[in-house]
Amino acid sequence: MVVTRTRSPIRSSVGLKAVMAVTGIILVSFLIAHMLGNLKIFTGATSFDHYAHWLREIGTPLLPGVWFLWIMRIGLVVAAVGHIWAATALAVRARAARPVQYAHRKKVQGSYAARTMRWGGVIILLFVIYHILDLTTGTLNPVGDPSRPYANVVADFAPERWYVTLFYTLAVVTLGFHLRHGLFSALRSLGQQSPRGERRARAVALGFAVVLCAGYLAVPFAVLTGLVS
Ligand code: HEM
Repeated sequence: MVVTRTRSPIRSSVGLKAVMAVTGIILVSFLIAHMLGNLKIFTGATSFDHYAHWLREIGTPLLPGVWFLWIMRIGLVVAAVGHIWAATALAVRARAARPVQYAHRKKVQGSYAARTMRWGGVIILLFVIYHILDLTTGTLNPVGDPSRPYANVVADFAPERWYVTLFYTLAVVTLGFHLRHGLFSALRSLGQQSPRGERRARAVALGFAVVLCAGYLAVPFAVLTGLVS
């Protein structure tokens, strides 16, 4: 008897790349919304705290209490797990496709961002775990009151806690490199496959990453310099 193994289309390389793209879009949409929400800190404590409370009530009265928030959280976790799973499967497949392993791995393999995608992803994941314990649950925050996010943010990035700002800066810059390369690869696959198209994809990806990094870093640096207190 001949047993034929069929592989689900999602596990094909094209399927895995589609998973990377779809989950990447979900995660990037969250990053844009979160950055815009964070910038509301410049409108003052009352407005920022009001906004944070409103986030917990989206969907009511259609949905009970914090249901929407939990649906969003579950969606983000599923997207992040899918993104990591597809990235790992693609990396394993690329390695297996090489008939003879390199005796020495070539030093130059694409851009700096391309080589650091994997480590970048790990650093971002560790940052998100720390960040949730810091500003969502308040466990690692000097104020740690989930009902007063403005006070939590101001306490977090106080000048004497400069190392927290430094850690956030490293994480956000790592995220910037990750986004620049991810977006560039996606745009290159979808767009014009010409040197001009590639230059344009590179510029759009860089511009997006810089704007996102600046938007995120504006908050800790505003607290560090006393602009927000
Ligand atoms: C660097 C500046 C950032 C600031 C000032 C900031 C601020 C905050 C605050 C105040 C909360 C708690 C919101 C609340 O519970 O009301 C939060 C939650 C969160 N942030 Fe950030 N954030 C920053 C960067 C990031 C980055 C770069 C990421 C992702 C890579 C991120 C991902 C998250 C996630 C996943 C949550 C939890 C959302 C939830 O489930 O409630 N944040 N952030």
